[in-house]
Amino acid sequence: MYARLIGTGSCLPGNPVTNNDLAARGIDTNDEWVVTRTGIRSRYLAEPGTTSSELGLVAAQRALEMANVAASDLDLIIVATSTPDFIFPSTACLIQGKLGNKGAAAFDVQAVCSGFAYALGIADKFIRSGSHKKVLVIGAEVFSRILDWSDRGTCVLFGDGAGAVVLEASEKPGILATAMHADGSLSGILNVPGQIAGGQVIGDPFLRMDGPAVFKFAVRVLADIAEEVCQVAGIKTCDVDWLIPHQANIRIIEATGKRLGIDREKVIVTVAHHGNTSAASVPLALDEAVRDGRIQRGQKVLVEGVGGGFTWGAALFEF
Ligand code: UT7
Repeated sequence: MYARLIGTGSCLPGNPVTNNDLAARGIDTNDEWVVTRTGIRSRYLAEPGTTSSELGLVAAQRALEMANVAASDLDLIIVATSTPDFIFPSTACLIQGKLGNKGAAAFDVQAVCSGFAYALGIADKFIRSGSHKKVLVIGAEVFSRILDWSDRGTCVLFGDGAGAVVLEASEKPGILATAMHADGSLSGILNVPGQIAGGQVIGDPFLRMDGPAVFKFAVRVLADIAEEVCQVAGIKTCDVDWLIPHQANIRIIEATGKRLGIDREKVIVTVAHHGNTSAASVPLALDEAVRDGRIQRGQKVLVEGVGGGFTWGAALFEF
């Protein structure tokens, strides 16, 4: 029994905000620096008050429509997010309520930018065990809420959005291999160290990152985990039809593709117009490439993420 992807969907809030738009808003940056160092040209930023569950709901509805599955038929809903609407209930329960589904299991996965890869791996295990048959997996984020807009080293990098997939139990191939790893000793290189206690924010509530340390680690583990899932599935990395790495920086994406021997044309890149949307980056890129016809049925797709924790994860599937 395989977990087969039968629908994808995505949602981006509002209009693109360019690097020049950010400079015009008073951020001490320029288009040339951001494009050269990251490949990012624009990103989408949610209006104040727009939440991850709202973006995730629209992405989910689009994925369900493509899959021709009624929300009431879902038996599991997993949302990968680090910017949930509330401490609780989970964003997955909020989306379940908005979809009108009753009874499905619903929970959030917190693995930051690896969240979608983790959630796919979890969904795959539920389906393969035979316990669940129709699963909605969503990556949804409003990272703009946790950015320090006075820190030019981070605020230009991130954007908001959501992507979703519907998986069903099938005898036809779907997910071939998944992997997830973490190294908590590196929690300090990318984090939001503040806490809420006694009705107050204690500490720093904004995203902090040691960019160069994250960069180095990301290139290594993205290559390692891609090799790991390909080995489990018994294929060479150069034989995948499409690579969808986490969309954080074009230089990381290119270095990963090169290490794996995957041609540039087989790598889906959306970082230029989405920025880094954390757990939403991979499902957003996947939906774009499915809907524009690049990803075709029967092709092998490798998705992978890396992010705070430190975490990294990957899934290889036949579409
Ligand atoms: O989603 C989780 C995964 N996240 C990532 O994968 C991010 C990984 N890291 C990166 O992508 C890169 O390290 C960054 C894009 C964050 C930074 O690139 P870098 O080449 O490592 O630059 P840097 O941090 O070493 O900064 C170089 C210079 C500094 O100036 P000085 O001190 O050399 O004069 C910064 O102040 O660039 C300056 N700078 C900027 N200049 C204009 C930093 N941010 C900006 C900015 N605009 N927005």
